[in-house]
Amino acid sequence: MKTSGEKNSAMAHKQRLRTSDETFLGASHPLEGQTVMVVGGSSGIGSAVAQRAASHGASVVIVSRQASRFDDGEPSSKRIRYHHMDITQEADRKSLAKRSETIDHLVFAVRSAGSSAPFLQTTQEQAKEAFEVKFWGVYSFIQAIYPCMAAQSSITLTSGITGEKIIPGASSMAAINSATETLCRQLAVELAPIRINAVSPGFVAPKPEPLERRARDFPQRRLASPNDVAPAYIELMMSSYRTGTIVVVDGGARLV
Ligand SMILES: NC(=O)c1ccc[n+]([C@@H]2O[C@H](COP(=O)([O-])OP(=O)(O)OC[C@H]3O[C@@H](n4cnc5c(N)ncnc54)[C@H](OP(=O)(O)O)[C@@H]3O)[C@@H](O)[C@H]2O)c1
Repeated sequence: MKTSGEKNSAMAHKQRLRTSDETFLGASHPLEGQTVMVVGGSSGIGSAVAQRAASHGASVVIVSRQASRFDDGEPSSKRIRYHHMDITQEADRKSLAKRSETIDHLVFAVRSAGSSAPFLQTTQEQAKEAFEVKFWGVYSFIQAIYPCMAAQSSITLTSGITGEKIIPGASSMAAINSATETLCRQLAVELAPIRINAVSPGFVAPKPEPLERRARDFPQRRLASPNDVAPAYIELMMSSYRTGTIVVVDGGARLV
């Protein structure tokens, strides 16, 4: 027979296990008071992750080249600070690493410049340029900021559906996303005990009309919103035993 103390402790344990972003029932959220840096957090998926982390009580630093494209006046935004830099620039990376506080969770949601084109119409220069931000920028940023990472911290990368599903005209992104997922598994071993995971989004709004129409054939019958994808990042921050994994959030798009 369990004593009431044992029952309470079992209940607290159960609550701790319910770490889903939406269903956490503990007294305080696990992200409360943690420092979360979101590189590429000024718009789209990164912005949704930054706002969600702040709403859970985290102290959030958004890293991007320009000022935020959102300012909703929500109380959570008081917990958000900005650092403006270009992650492809070594001097910028060094300067941030020198000034940064200890980081509990680091998220990358940067997008490469340029648009996709068929393989035969993509020059090597264009393909290399696409790698500059999303792959090499992230790679070098991790090396620079590594001394600022807390021992029990996490890094969440962003890959994308083209890393798994072949979509004609997306060869550069396919290569970048596959490389990102391989880097994720490699760093999970080399940088342990820091946990490294990746989120692979499908098609996230806004998108041109033809893609929006195509999304109606996906199992979920629509494009994702950034808020559909953001909870996966929060859960990866909170999942203390998860590393080297890729979380797909695509509404089933890769299946059809
Ligand atoms: N949207 C989708 O359908 C989709 C699908 C699959 C995968 N993904 C991936 O998800 C990630 C986020 O996509 P998104 O659509 O949410 O992107 P987004 O809205 O275009 O946001 C990109 C972010 O990256 C920042 N950024 C770009 N270049 C930078 C640089 N050199 N230095 C610092 N910050 C930089 C941007 O801010 P500044 O411009 O101010 O620097 C912005 O905050 C990307 O990796 C993308 O490939 C997206």
